[in-house]
Amino acid sequence: MPAVVIVGAQWGDEGKGKATDLLGEKVDYVVKPNGGNNAGHTVVVDGEKFELKLLPAGILSPQVTPVIGNGVVVNLAALFEEIAMLTSRGVDTSRLRISANAHLVAPYHQTLDKVTERFLGKRAIGTTGRGIGPAYMDKAGRLGIRVQDLFDPSILRQKVEGALRQKNELLVKLYNRRAVEVEEITQELLSYAERLRPMVVDTTLLLNEALDRGEVVLMEGGQATFLDVDHGTYPFVTSSNPTAGGACTGTGIGPTRVDRVIGIAKAYTTRVGAGPFPTELEDEWGERLQRVGGEVGVNTGRPRRCGWYDALMIRHAVRINGFTDIVLTKLDVLTGIEQVPICTGYEVDGEVHREMPMTQTEFHHAVPVYETLPGWSEDISTARRIEDLPQNARAYVQRLEELAGCRISAIGVGPDREDTIAVHDLLPGAQD
Ligand code: GDP
Ligand code: IMO
Ligand code: MG
Repeated sequence: MPAVVIVGAQWGDEGKGKATDLLGEKVDYVVKPNGGNNAGHTVVVDGEKFELKLLPAGILSPQVTPVIGNGVVVNLAALFEEIAMLTSRGVDTSRLRISANAHLVAPYHQTLDKVTERFLGKRAIGTTGRGIGPAYMDKAGRLGIRVQDLFDPSILRQKVEGALRQKNELLVKLYNRRAVEVEEITQELLSYAERLRPMVVDTTLLLNEALDRGEVVLMEGGQATFLDVDHGTYPFVTSSNPTAGGACTGTGIGPTRVDRVIGIAKAYTTRVGAGPFPTELEDEWGERLQRVGGEVGVNTGRPRRCGWYDALMIRHAVRINGFTDIVLTKLDVLTGIEQVPICTGYEVDGEVHREMPMTQTEFHHAVPVYETLPGWSEDISTARRIEDLPQNARAYVQRLEELAGCRISAIGVGPDREDTIAVHDLLPGAQD
């Protein structure tokens, strides 16, 4: 059983953390390919709630080796804070491995994230303020600092100096902030070096050798398809590639080794931050989804914008990620709604689109065209087999499957690991 990818199918917070945790017993490695501490995954294990921002959710499974891949941007203060939080709660983090090629989020990236958002004013992205965009800008701009640089203080100092020469101009002249000292940043980064050293390895070799031995590697994407810098609702996106192709780049696992690509989709839609959202509900229905679904961002505490399920978005996500399976989450949140709308088209300037329109302007002006299915009022939170679901809930799932053009292999009916209906085996051949 080779490599498996988990990708968010919407704008994030679909329940990727729970899905990874669910598969945790059957996998050997869980690697995070992209993003940084902008993520927020809530995982509930036997009623106990864990909130993770930087580390992959696989860290909660005792036999899993959790890995931070080369595509991640690592904030070292946040990393050690999260390790301390988990350790204090009895989670063993000693197996954590970190790519020597991963880039660092330095304190000035966070400052730049905040001042850029302020500078953008009405056009702000609504970022998490964690310095993610500026860190990836430096990576692409070849001014980044990598984990391995911590082990060569003179190279580190040179790189910090190179980065700050440009940053300080920006900070002082454009944003009216104080300049950042090279030595202060160098020393701060160096202060983590010895603690980090035992965790740092060539993760590409580690993961590929594990695959050679027939072990199971799960790539747990942060963020989601429509936050992808190439495929998302640009510019209202993050700065990495949270899609399936990005998982290969961000881990060094070749596409031919990937066997399954699992899309995680919520039974409705949410978004944190700014940007177009055709099915958004700015009325009591949106408020209801927000309340019943507990839709508050883990990372920044912002309420998530809520709307109905958008079948065009999911079909697009199936296409560009090549999903083999979908895990549909939070079906329980729709219980009690008499008529459940599904968006199956967008009306733009009098024309109805059945696929994602080509331009962002059209997407921005899209008015959803809905198909409505009868709802169900029975409590579904204890359902464990598809047959346990009321007929209308099954029909809803079946319709989503048809519209997506991809099978739905598991259904979430509550936040706990156990609150799941398994329809098709997500990891056939893997040992328990
Ligand atoms: P992630 O970022 O994709 O891992 O998702 P988040 O953890 O940010 O948000 C998903 C939220 O929904 C978390 O609070 C989960 O505990 C919760 N959750 C996941 N699956 C289900 C489900 O099937 N039903 C319900 N009610 N909650 C769920
Ligand atoms: P998980 O992994 C939801 C959003 C931010 C903002 C945009 C850019 O929990 O699904 P950034 O700080 O990345 O530059 O912000 O992306 N965003 C997320 N929204 N879930 C996430 O992660 C997100 N990570 C970033 O709200 O709109
Ligand atoms: Mg989240």
